[in-house]
Amino acid sequence: MRILKSLAELRKWRQQQSEVALVPTMGNLHDGHLHLVKTALERCDNVVASIFVNPMQFGANEDLDSYPRTLEADCQALDALGVSAVFTPQVRDVYPRGLDKQTRIEVPGISDILCGASRPGHFTGVATIVCKLFNMVQPQLAVFGEKDYQQLQVIRLMTQDLSLPVEVLGAPTQRETNGLAMSSRNGYLSVEQKQQASALYRTLQKTKAELSSNAHFAELERSGIKELTDAGFVPDYFSIRNAADLQEATADNPEWVILAAAFMGKTRLIDNLRVINTSSK
Ligand code: PAF
Repeated sequence: MRILKSLAELRKWRQQQSEVALVPTMGNLHDGHLHLVKTALERCDNVVASIFVNPMQFGANEDLDSYPRTLEADCQALDALGVSAVFTPQVRDVYPRGLDKQTRIEVPGISDILCGASRPGHFTGVATIVCKLFNMVQPQLAVFGEKDYQQLQVIRLMTQDLSLPVEVLGAPTQRETNGLAMSSRNGYLSVEQKQQASALYRTLQKTKAELSSNAHFAELERSGIKELTDAGFVPDYFSIRNAADLQEATADNPEWVILAAAFMGKTRLIDNLRVINTSSK
């Protein structure tokens, strides 16, 4: 497996390849990431994983400095899976003119709601780095986790709006045995908090079951918030949306998604569950 530490090294390597699939990550890989890599390998023999903790997507009070960096272990895991190359550039290589002067990609309508309302600028940071990674790596296919559902939809819209020649594939959320969605941030939770945090998925499942007989979205959202609070969370949002554009759910939409973000102690967790609307024509 090649370890490409600069854009120049990546470009040189890329010239010798034909088809490439990309799995963008910020490192600290867990089984959820490895599942993304396996999904990519099912479609393409030549997989590049990027490891870059992107400063542009972190808010001033977020965990950029403390974000876990485990490059050696990450490279070992990727090598064992059969990844062809890891692209791990430096911040100055990605943002040579500095973050303030960097051209940004904004995806309107979807970036300032839900997680974007609590994390202003976050999805601009995500769309900008993913667009740059697409231009740097020039993959035919890129795989992202459905756990970050809003991120996935932002990236899909960005790719479509900018006519980028990349297929964006979502891979299903991987879960711990208690249902907790795998996330790098689970590492911040104590054993007891991890157990408590399984209530997030249970609440989503219960709401999904209730949605099939009762499309009273506001009422279900209120119950979801109450259940999360009773389980020891401080909820940020619990919201039922139309799955494609994440606008407020409407009764005739073919597919909804229930999205939640909630704090367990200091750790902000997110999760979601999609629901086919069986009564839509
Ligand atoms: O999901 C992530 O890890 C990041 O947001 C991504 C897509 C790698 C962009 O930095």
